[in-house]
Amino acid sequence: KQETIIIDENESMDNESSTLREMIKKDRVIAFPTETVYGLGGNAYSDEAVKRIFQVKQRPADNPLIVHIHCMEQLNEFTEHIHPDAYRLMKRYWPGPITFIVPIKQGMLSHYVTAGLNTVGVRMPNHDFALQFLRIVDTPIAAPSANMSGRPSPTKFSHIEYDLYGRADVLIRGDDSIVGVESTVVDTTVEPFEIVRPGHITAADIMRETGLEVIYESTTSTTPKSPGMKYRHYAPKQPVYPLKEDFKPEGHVGVIAPAELIKSWNNVVTFELCESVIDVNIAMRNLYKALRFMDAQQVDTVYIYQFPRQERYNALNNRIDKVISSKEEDL
Ligand code: TXA
Ligand code: MG
Repeated sequence: KQETIIIDENESMDNESSTLREMIKKDRVIAFPTETVYGLGGNAYSDEAVKRIFQVKQRPADNPLIVHIHCMEQLNEFTEHIHPDAYRLMKRYWPGPITFIVPIKQGMLSHYVTAGLNTVGVRMPNHDFALQFLRIVDTPIAAPSANMSGRPSPTKFSHIEYDLYGRADVLIRGDDSIVGVESTVVDTTVEPFEIVRPGHITAADIMRETGLEVIYESTTSTTPKSPGMKYRHYAPKQPVYPLKEDFKPEGHVGVIAPAELIKSWNNVVTFELCESVIDVNIAMRNLYKALRFMDAQQVDTVYIYQFPRQERYNALNNRIDKVISSKEEDL
């Protein structure tokens, strides 16, 4: 078993910054909070560190990682030929919950980061600790979500403790993630730009706030644009079915839904995602907590509410659709 150090995000950085710097230099991996979900980070320039990330979370090697930076100078170290409109979006949305796929500069990043692609996803997180950490270690940090592969992404410290204590080298104890679903991923190497993973920032937000048209195909295509999207992610251990209008509980079941749709059923374990269907930000913040909660319950089946098929619910429905058991072919 791996020895795991726990550090509080509020502990004086004078005490802890040398530990963090040393750990990253020695190719160790650190789980840390961001505004979207917790990430499992290591030096993006080091093969050893990046291999260790894949090994610790048992992630399939063909699924590339996102690289995290704290300033634009860092971006120019390992990327090139970035589209002017991509710079415009970075200026508008960074630091923030959005990742841009851009061309790499050869010979800088570990090729394990990109899984052999000549593009890379880059993000500057909007989170005090994460930015401070990136500044202290002063190397780009490759970080997938800090869950064991196949488990829901972590949005609470207890989630990373459960998945990674005894596996990762350092766990940073921070607050619950504010956004709660992974970043929007925008491919800027195609025209028009394309959303390959929906998140808190939508195509309509980008259009309204910058005038730039970005497309999103919510229909499941046969070849996923983002390699990670082909896996059946985030699933609780029980079979999961859509919560339908005519739902009648049979046996011992769990229900995940907005409070306004939860009735006083007998013998049903419920998790309220939010008050009302329109509380999309709160529902996003709570979704992974709900999935982990149900996973830990002794219920036989889970029923989950699918939100209206409107753009602002894309990120939510995208994750919810993926846990639904009839989608086993996504495996
Ligand atoms: O919010 C987030 O993005 C979190 C936090 C920690 O920053 N990170 C995260 O990383 O969600 P991960 O590795 O779980 O998801 C990365 C996604 C995957 O779906 C992957 O396939 C896609 O980004 N991706 C990465 N590089 C890509 C590339 N060059 N082309 C297409 N998709 C890429
Ligand atoms: Mg992930």
